[in-house]
Amino acid sequence: MTQALWDEVDDYFRGLLVGDDPRLTAALEDAAAAGLPPHDVTAAEGKLIHLLARSAGARRILEIGTLGGYSTIWLARAVPDTGRVVTIERDPRAAEVARRNIERAGVAPRVELLEGDAREVLSTLDGPFDLVFIDADKRSNPVYLEHALRLARPGTLIVADNVVRQGAVADPETQDPDARGVRTFAEALANEPRIDATAIQTVGAKGHDGFVAALVTA
Ligand code: DHB
Ligand code: MG
Repeated sequence: MTQALWDEVDDYFRGLLVGDDPRLTAALEDAAAAGLPPHDVTAAEGKLIHLLARSAGARRILEIGTLGGYSTIWLARAVPDTGRVVTIERDPRAAEVARRNIERAGVAPRVELLEGDAREVLSTLDGPFDLVFIDADKRSNPVYLEHALRLARPGTLIVADNVVRQGAVADPETQDPDARGVRTFAEALANEPRIDATAIQTVGAKGHDGFVAALVTA
């Protein structure tokens, strides 16, 4: 199994089920042109978080890690006109690109982009949020989980991107701070009585990775 095959399969389903939206494509192009790291979710994963948000009837969504706003647009398209996506970005260059992308996609009235270190910005927020998407620096995931729980209600869904790290997560000796952050995060999920969670590993256009889906139950 190769990356080329994973790309082919992602392309197949994107063509069939996701489609090519010019404003989402432009968001990716502008993020790349600005030199942002290619860490956007895939089209298939963007559509998945969009569908999860719709199926949850989410009106208030929290996103930790905006990057160029690609996933933000997917989420903003899932909430009603009166809904909100609050998204946090530390890198001012990324935030600038994201603002333009969000504006062009026509979802700016439903998006509140907060610039700064997520640990600090999160402390200023009040909940509840219906869905929390964690997709920032993975080493901080344990702290982000504490905030997500504080900002949740029973029924809130927490989704965390990039929890597999090409398999590094399964190595108890890993020295990669991001893989270690994900392990501590996963252990915190396991030990948290208010959470019921799973993790899915994926292959696709972004290689071998995966995501956590966690329901806040109480
Ligand atoms: C990385 C971060 C991401 O959010 C992602 O989707 C892929 C990779 C990273 O930091 O390496
Ligand atoms: Mg990611």
